[in-house]
Amino acid sequence: MAVYDLIVIGGGPGGYVCAIRAGQLGLSVACVESRETLGGTCLNVGCIPSKALLHASHLYHEATQNFARVGIVAESPSIDWEKMLAYKQSTIDANTGGIEFLFKKNRVDWIKGKGQILEPGKVQVGDQTYQTKNIVIATGSESSTLGSVEIDEQTVVTSTGALELAKIPENMVIIGAGVIGLELGSVFAWLGTKVTVLEYLDGITPGMDLEVSKTLQRILKRQGLSFKLGVEVTSVSKDDKGNKVNYEIRKSDKKESIQTDIVLLSTGRRPYTEGLGLENVGIDLNKVGQIEVGPDLQTKVEGIYAIGDVTPGLMLAHKAEDEGVAVAEEIAGGKGYVNHDVIPAIIYTQPEVAAVGKTEEQLKEEGVAYKVGKFPFQGNARAKSIFQASGFVKMLADKENDKLLGCHIIGPAASDLIQEVCLALEFGASAEDIALTCHGHPTYSEAVKEAALACGDGPIHA
Ligand code: NAI
Repeated sequence: MAVYDLIVIGGGPGGYVCAIRAGQLGLSVACVESRETLGGTCLNVGCIPSKALLHASHLYHEATQNFARVGIVAESPSIDWEKMLAYKQSTIDANTGGIEFLFKKNRVDWIKGKGQILEPGKVQVGDQTYQTKNIVIATGSESSTLGSVEIDEQTVVTSTGALELAKIPENMVIIGAGVIGLELGSVFAWLGTKVTVLEYLDGITPGMDLEVSKTLQRILKRQGLSFKLGVEVTSVSKDDKGNKVNYEIRKSDKKESIQTDIVLLSTGRRPYTEGLGLENVGIDLNKVGQIEVGPDLQTKVEGIYAIGDVTPGLMLAHKAEDEGVAVAEEIAGGKGYVNHDVIPAIIYTQPEVAAVGKTEEQLKEEGVAYKVGKFPFQGNARAKSIFQASGFVKMLADKENDKLLGCHIIGPAASDLIQEVCLALEFGASAEDIALTCHGHPTYSEAVKEAALACGDGPIHA
């Protein structure tokens, strides 16, 4: 039987990108994936479908709230939920089909089924055993569960079920004010659902710059989401009225509950390693179920690598993708490169939130002398013209030498704006480097330049 150079287990953003790059580099490669379509959680039940619904629901919001403001006179629009779901599905299909095409183009074999590692160099799928010189584990993650909360994906759902609800619910309780809860909460709030978010911590979006997090909460509140912070959800019970979410108010012995049609559980994700056969090769999981890897992304077993959500670090598609490329390069005899200090984090609410590098809280904790350059989108003509001027760009730079340390944006197109700061960080640039770079006018990116100016003598438009 032919021996592959590489078998990648998992066809999500980490795995499929790794396989394609390996094919481009001339390796013989196969990707094992058990889903009917390639693309993993991200393309099938995560990033892509949620972005489609965010787009559709935001258009509806624009039509109902802002059309009249800009002089468009139209009949009040209504929602055809089935059609909206069909649009979402067409977005998924276009992307998953695209990967199948890229596999063919780059001579990647798709082995359909679940892969189990029998020993280094041997992967079993169904009743077939495949030989390979290298293995990359890219099996991703699954939604975490919560004690006695039973998921049925009908009325008590994870993000997967939330993207497929039979109808737009009248009300929804979201457990966890992280990325998934807030993105899907926005979708349903715009579609008219009464959304209540229950969060264990005293603030939303853990790990995010505090000023951004507070601003985001204020804006989401204005959009109709209501928040109960500092509460721990303990269980969900069912009665004839629907679901009852039971929670304890932390820092007191009070217990309360809330009645709702739909419960969305978004309390984090955990690495998915079930049935992978790690015990056959002596790879142990760490305390939180992740596979530890070295700087070259190799596990403790030579020839077996791991990337993406199954490994420590941010659970983000683009982190997995970059790791996939790096491993392919390494296996092909080159040098892989991922700078884990420069990975943008994005929340696709409206306004979007994007961040890279250190937060102010981290810098304080590390005792770094820093300066803050902040610029509000109120001073940005383009943002004002589309009624999205309530956010800001906050740049953090070294107090002594002006070197960029981090950037936090809440505002229009933040997901794209953050990229110039990523590049600047990658090149070790100073705030002044951004300030001296000509930015087109009128663009949202001028707010990034102005924040950089604010790290020096001060911005022009504030
Ligand atoms: P998360 O880790 O972002 O947030 C979970 C929240 O649930 C936390 O704030 C936590 O304090 C809270 N929580 C936990 N137990 C609770 C309880 N019993 N009662 C009340 N609150 C409780 O998790 P999330 O939103 O599920 O996202 C999972 C992963 O998926 C994240 O790592 C995220 O980065 C990734 N993701 C990224 C996206 C993006 O880049 N735009 C989009 C969607 C997911």
